[in-house]
Amino acid sequence: MSILRFDQVSFQYPGEDFDIIDRLSFSVEPGSFHCIIGISGCGKSTIFRMTNGLLQPKSGTISVLGKPVSGQKHYCGYMPQKDMLFPWRTIGENLALPLEIQRRGTKAERLGLIDAALADVGLAGCRDKRPDELSGGMRQRAAFARTMLAGSDLLLLDEPFSALDFLTRISMQEWLLDQWQRHKKTILFITHDVEEAVFLSSSVLVVDKTPIHTLREIPVPMDYPRTRQDLTRPEIVALREQLVDMLRKQVTV
Ligand SMILES: Nc1ncnc2c1ncn2[C@@H]1O[C@H](COP(=O)(O)OP(=O)(O)OP(=O)(O)O)[C@@H](O)[C@H]1O
Ligand SMILES: [Mg+2]
Repeated sequence: MSILRFDQVSFQYPGEDFDIIDRLSFSVEPGSFHCIIGISGCGKSTIFRMTNGLLQPKSGTISVLGKPVSGQKHYCGYMPQKDMLFPWRTIGENLALPLEIQRRGTKAERLGLIDAALADVGLAGCRDKRPDELSGGMRQRAAFARTMLAGSDLLLLDEPFSALDFLTRISMQEWLLDQWQRHKKTILFITHDVEEAVFLSSSVLVVDKTPIHTLREIPVPMDYPRTRQDLTRPEIVALREQLVDMLRKQVTV
């Protein structure tokens, strides 16, 4: 059964005179890793905001594991475009948020879960630091740990690495693939970086027209685990160029 399914979903922002999402249908299989690419402003984040219930579709149905999301709770973890760690809370207190919201465990149990999550993302010992004491990559890992603590199998990551320098970004990509394989989650990941999309995805979902009516699924012919060396294979270079072309056709300068 699909973990996520959009069925004829439409959405219109108040004040706009058209549906930015227009009867969109697509489904996502459990355990897959899809990057979503598309030009700026086409509605990618809107798809995430509807999936997580921040926005309500005008029509159509969004289901997780066969049940409509309206009425469900805690069915997905969401990492917004900015890391959104609260600067006045320590890293540990930031990670405690999903547990507090779900009223999970005693204080001691929460501390145990937080320490385990921090160790898992390579941030053991950072519990009492504040976000501004960490590097950009460390903050993203802390935000990811918080998303994981929400306990959902479906993770929505909106441009999580876009603010990072190149070397940090590529090591975070390898790190994320490793996390994905170990935790067996389903990941939807928005990016503007075509190479990142190819490196991470089992197949890339391309927004090639707006309003968004379909996501065009382009499989990536590479097995996991992957190395950056795989990106130099001729068929992968050609795929990257094909994706860039699909996006460029939509940009009217
Ligand atoms: N609250 C809002 N009210 C009205 N229009 C909005 C609102 N939020 C977003 N929009 C518009 O909807 C469109 C899609 O926004 P969205 O944030 O989904 O784009 P995106 O594909 O994620 O873009 P980017 O790649 O730049 O993040 C944009 O044109 C934006 O201006
Ligand atoms: Mg966006």
